[in-house]
Amino acid sequence: MSRGNNLSDTVLDIQNISVKFNVQGTVHRAVDGVSLQLKKGEILAVVGESGCGKTTLAKAVLGIQPIDSGNIILAGRAVDNNPSRDMASRAGMVWQDPYASMNPKWTISRTITEPFRLQGTKGDINKILEEVGLGSRFAFRYPHQLSGGQRQRAAIGRALALKPPVVICDEPTAALDLSVQAQILNLLKDLQKSINCSYLYISHDLMTVRFLADRVAVMYLGRIVEQGPTEQVFENPQHPYTKALLGSAPNLERIGHVPDALEGELPDPRTKFVGCRFASRCEKAKDACKEQDPPAKQIGDVKVWCYYPGKTTS
Ligand SMILES: Nc1ncnc2c1ncn2[C@@H]1O[C@H](COP(=O)(O)OP(=O)(O)OP(=O)(O)O)[C@@H](O)[C@H]1O
Ligand SMILES: [Mg+2]
Repeated sequence: MSRGNNLSDTVLDIQNISVKFNVQGTVHRAVDGVSLQLKKGEILAVVGESGCGKTTLAKAVLGIQPIDSGNIILAGRAVDNNPSRDMASRAGMVWQDPYASMNPKWTISRTITEPFRLQGTKGDINKILEEVGLGSRFAFRYPHQLSGGQRQRAAIGRALALKPPVVICDEPTAALDLSVQAQILNLLKDLQKSINCSYLYISHDLMTVRFLADRVAVMYLGRIVEQGPTEQVFENPQHPYTKALLGSAPNLERIGHVPDALEGELPDPRTKFVGCRFASRCEKAKDACKEQDPPAKQIGDVKVWCYYPGKTTS
């Protein structure tokens, strides 16, 4: 049996989860039947347009967003809606905006060692500061005394402090200057190797995803529409939505970024969908697409939820 098929290698198992929000009396299905498995030592990217449910999915894994159905098994145990103090030893979190995720009144030392304090243990702050490329002189500074890149290094130090098996990164470079983004990406890649943890890496930036991720899952309106090894998905996208994402780079600034709007109208997420969610924007859509959810099809190592995957329309 290959390593990829060994269940004991699964550090995060998201099983058919749904998250609904009640917005002014209407149900909004932000995550609607998502299943994903993250293997030990793997980087799995989740990509998709703004509002497709990526952050909601991340919060559900951390137990800070209640789920309406399904199960999440993280580091061998179910996640419940009342995350215990040991959550930081099972999953670390790197948010887009490190400033907003830090207590401005805490020193960097306090910020990074908080996971140890919650566990009643002590960590080696100088070692962690070295590992994230900051150095011990940063220990007693406050978040506002650091640059954006330095703050994100500190946030990564906090997320990895307890060497959790899973780290979730939600757009970790999106708020940083272009020149700093590559440094942070390299740091994340190096740390993942040295700790041998797994990343659930959420990003709009497809170039970054290609650089970092072993596998990629493409999300559209609360659903996964395609997933597989990164190179296969990028080289030979099967779902029309994946193709649209990869093909839409209208100018240099936008290259590699998921566009805000693809051709066609984005359906109202409060709609009770019948059939494929992408059908209203899909040039390949036929009657079947509008009538019933497409089943999963396996094409090589890629799984795609589409009646007409690949190049042909017939
Ligand atoms: N607390 C909430 N109450 C109501 N609706 C919410 C709530 N949180 C998220 N949503 C809605 O759920 C959907 C998914 O939001 P989410 O933040 O997960 O998207 P996202 O993919 O992370 O988007 P982005 O790329 O912009 O960060 C959106 O339509 C959003 O408006
Ligand atoms: Mg988000």
